[in-house]
Amino acid sequence: MTDTPILVSTEGRVGLIRLNRPAQLNALNDALMDALGAALLAFDADPGVGAIVITGSDKAFAAGADIAAMADWDYMDVYQSAFITRNWEAIRQVRKPVLAAVAGFALGGGCELALACDIVVAAESARFALPEIKLAMLPGAGGTQRLPRAIGKAKAMDMCLSARMLDAQEADRYGLVSRVVPDAELLDRTLALAAQIASFSLPALMAIKESVNRAWESSLTEGILFERRELYARFASADAHEGMQAFLDKRKPAFQHR
Ligand code: HXC
Repeated sequence: MTDTPILVSTEGRVGLIRLNRPAQLNALNDALMDALGAALLAFDADPGVGAIVITGSDKAFAAGADIAAMADWDYMDVYQSAFITRNWEAIRQVRKPVLAAVAGFALGGGCELALACDIVVAAESARFALPEIKLAMLPGAGGTQRLPRAIGKAKAMDMCLSARMLDAQEADRYGLVSRVVPDAELLDRTLALAAQIASFSLPALMAIKESVNRAWESSLTEGILFERRELYARFASADAHEGMQAFLDKRKPAFQHR
């Protein structure tokens, strides 16, 4: 066991969180998820951070919830401790863009963690599966809900019911991941993408993230209404006026994130 289940650093305006239980293939125990939730919320509150990257090791983004920890739990244990809700829900509270840089296994909760991120950059070695059915368990950290929304019912049922594992190219074709890159370039490419995103106006990024997420959770009419209000709100932002004026002046915009 390592004493530090995650490693946290910043590179410019990008917050980087590395899952750090290599001996257990980054199995997601409570200590790791508590630390991850706290780090995400701290970056979200930090005005110097515009985007967040979560990554694992070369072999595993995360091989799922910690089976050794869960094996003896009973219903009251998980109910009273608000398992999942207590720490996994932190990721849904994050308003800034969150990118997953995935190499190796992203299984069970590891796949669900990637699904909860806004952008998933996969290395060629990345493997995605929801193998909970092999344990007579259930993809209970959003898997049965986010996966069908991401890749459709047919592919999601196949993965959830048969534990089918996708390689990076399949995951890319199905829409589970955003981009596939060579393993050696995974972190650099993801950090560069995050830095590019973080250079844009933060309130505009947050409005876009909230609007895209609305597409998952509302009718088209409701979603379009939400989007329209967010568009109108841009006209109240200094950055939008700066962005448009900079275009007209043929210069680089100087965003104040306001
Ligand atoms: C606890 C795990 C683990 C896990 C791996 N390890 N996955 N420990 N929980 N999810 C541990 C192993 O026990 C082993 O410890 C070490 O990590 C290395 O794993 P190996 O199996 O020896 O490696 P390998 O042969 O390369 O196989 C890799 C693997 C396999 C295919 C990823 O480890 C595997 O199938 N893991 C379980 C995947 C899984 O079922 N995930 C879903 C979990 S349920 P030792 O001490 O022996 O060296 C879940 C529920 C989500 O995620 C919903 C609620 C959050």
